[in-house]
Amino acid sequence: MPATPQKFYLTTPIYYVNARPHIGHAYTTLVADTIARRHRLMGDDTFFLTGTDEHGQKIERSAAAAGIPPQAFADEVSAAFRTLWDRMGLTYNDYIRTTDPRHKQGAQKLFADLHARGQIYLSSYTGQYSIGEEMFIEGPPGTIGPDGRPTETVTEENFFFKLSEYQEKLLDLIESDTLHIQPESRKNEVLSFLRGNVAEATEAGEVLAISASGKAYVPGALRDLSVSRSSFTWGIPVPEPAASETQEKHVIYVWLDALANYMTAMGYGSEAPEDIAKFEKYWPADLHLVGKEIIRFHCVYWPAFLLAANLPLPKAVTAHGWLLFDDSKMSKSKGNIVRTETILDAFGTLLPKPLDGPGPEFSDEHWKHEQDLFATDILRYFLLREIPFGQDGSFSFKAMITRYNADLANGYGNLVSRTLAMIKSNFDGAIPGKGDAAQNDPSGWDVIDQVHKKFERYDFSGATQDLWFFLGAVDGLISSAAPWKLAKSEDPTDKLKLETVLYAASESIRVLTALLYPILPNATAKVWLQLGLGDIEQAAANGKLKDLKWGGLQPGTKLGPLGPIFPRADKGLAQIMTDIEASKAPKSTLIDELNPTLPEHHDSNDPAAGPRTATLAEPNPGAFVAGSHAVTTERLHTSHTDAPASGPFVAAALATATPDTPQIAIDDFVKIDLRVAKITIAERIPKADKLLRLEVDLGYEQRQILSGIAEWYTPEELIGRRIVIIANLAPRKMRGLESHGMLLAASSGDNTKPVLTTFPDTEDLALGSRVR
Ligand code: MSP
Repeated sequence: MPATPQKFYLTTPIYYVNARPHIGHAYTTLVADTIARRHRLMGDDTFFLTGTDEHGQKIERSAAAAGIPPQAFADEVSAAFRTLWDRMGLTYNDYIRTTDPRHKQGAQKLFADLHARGQIYLSSYTGQYSIGEEMFIEGPPGTIGPDGRPTETVTEENFFFKLSEYQEKLLDLIESDTLHIQPESRKNEVLSFLRGNVAEATEAGEVLAISASGKAYVPGALRDLSVSRSSFTWGIPVPEPAASETQEKHVIYVWLDALANYMTAMGYGSEAPEDIAKFEKYWPADLHLVGKEIIRFHCVYWPAFLLAANLPLPKAVTAHGWLLFDDSKMSKSKGNIVRTETILDAFGTLLPKPLDGPGPEFSDEHWKHEQDLFATDILRYFLLREIPFGQDGSFSFKAMITRYNADLANGYGNLVSRTLAMIKSNFDGAIPGKGDAAQNDPSGWDVIDQVHKKFERYDFSGATQDLWFFLGAVDGLISSAAPWKLAKSEDPTDKLKLETVLYAASESIRVLTALLYPILPNATAKVWLQLGLGDIEQAAANGKLKDLKWGGLQPGTKLGPLGPIFPRADKGLAQIMTDIEASKAPKSTLIDELNPTLPEHHDSNDPAAGPRTATLAEPNPGAFVAGSHAVTTERLHTSHTDAPASGPFVAAALATATPDTPQIAIDDFVKIDLRVAKITIAERIPKADKLLRLEVDLGYEQRQILSGIAEWYTPEELIGRRIVIIANLAPRKMRGLESHGMLLAASSGDNTKPVLTTFPDTEDLALGSRVR
């Protein structure tokens, strides 16, 4: 929790306008909105920026295919993004378009400044260009680019940026966390890229250099970067005096153009005093939130441009994972793209229009907006709860409905409805006295502090799990006190008990609601009103949601009008959404839906255009569990359907038998997210002889895993061990506890000790490193 309010400037990537918005874009923007709302309620002067990236060859070609000028094309798609964010009630403070005059001016200023400082020079280059990814890549003509299409041979006289001069400086900044990259696995990925192929260079007898933090790197592994294009015109012209150095007209490389948005939206490039003041106030950004596929652009090129222009660097770059659809890559040909509008339209229908209209507030337009906000909350909750932040996660309509019914309709919504209804009928609609209500919350642990800490780490999934654990405790309290029976009793002690339980329940609802506000801004606003506490936005602005203390709800507070918060959803809604999607499937290929959900190992191309390639090395390429992966995979599949009686660990089969496991493709293997984790807590579970409850540290988050190894391991001998877990296994409930993953172990036969796959502490291996 920041001690004193500060300014907080956060950004999303600006989205390409060749694709209409889909739920992947919405994911980033919803996360950013959640973070922005939290910073506002903490009192920070928060600025949340989003927008669209409108230049480049890809967009020029999409527009040409559509038969409209690129500007008109960009106008239409940019408006579609903005309209969607408005439908969802997202609280962005500015919407930047790279075709805005203010942006063009700023991007040109940055280019001219870099040129004036001798950081940009003219040279000629022939290479393979991937149009889909807007970057040069290594390989022979016709190489298949990261977007799955052949590259084009491009010979161009280009301006180059002296990226090679920044290798050491960038290493120092990132190794020292001056530029903070999260999660750790992404930081390692960037560092490997910056260090170059140390193993190969060592073998070749090359001289290595050592960074300030004592790590070896290959000097010269980072090559200069082409920062202009002359074979097409849809871009920001390279400004004078650089422009006069060339025969051809050049436009600024689309990534240099795009990255500059983070400053141009803040007034960079303008001479107006208010813009200068704005830039001074908000720059540098406190957080660039990005999808993991564009981490290198944000953590290598962007800071290098800023260093070269002598401008302050962003403080942090945080990458989230990809949203997968029905467990496979989103692609137009597979027809599994999900539009956010479909979800809004379908879930919106769950909110019935009140019959007590007509009044201006119940106009159809007003009601549609209410429904959109209601549905947006459901989507926000689902994405943030379901996907451990930083990891890839699957989206499916069915999972969304199940989660909605379980957590929102039967969970939060039901707790609010039954508690407040009982207060209405037994205490004349006013919060009862505290009775004997305990001084602390009924969960028995400090939920407020825990949740704040998790929010700070962007561990939304962990924060919501804690909140629902708390909610479960409150439900339990109500069930055991049975207020409906107490209400019928004439005994004065029962009346006191009734007050006690209903006060505790309503105060719990207040605490839950305040903590949930950044995730469920619309539903919590309704609950706040029902509790008689007024406008939650105002409460957030006045710091009332920040300093939460148990017992803050005043007895006697008159409840507001009551009504359902989350009506139950019928499972048939999934089919309705599938049908809407099918009816909207694109009939033409003019607007090419961008699909960034490529397996990570495809993402190793380098846009730097020089004689030697420095590729983005996979994090910890050496870390591979030799020989066990095929078996593991096969077991993993069966363990989903018939779970091993001994509990959730995956044991490799007897090593001496010839395995007759079916072959799998590498694509199947990469679906299994194996990670290095450290056991931080191990304890027995009462009345469960075989199970241990473990908490493991993945570097980017803590997890709870239940494992059936209690017969063979004592909790004490496990703590501190670095093991391998399957990190993307769907959670399972056992003994009322959720298990989030499995440990890897090998055993020589049934009922013999499973020996855990471990890494010695002597290896320099970051927690969360991927095993492959
Ligand atoms: N225009 C560049 C970004 C320039 S930023 C200076 C770009 N645009 S994009 O339209 O491809 O958007 C990429 C971003 O959209 C991702 O980094 C991510 O934030 C979001 N996502 C798009 N599809 C996504 C998923 N399937 N899953 C999660 N996020 C997704 O790259």
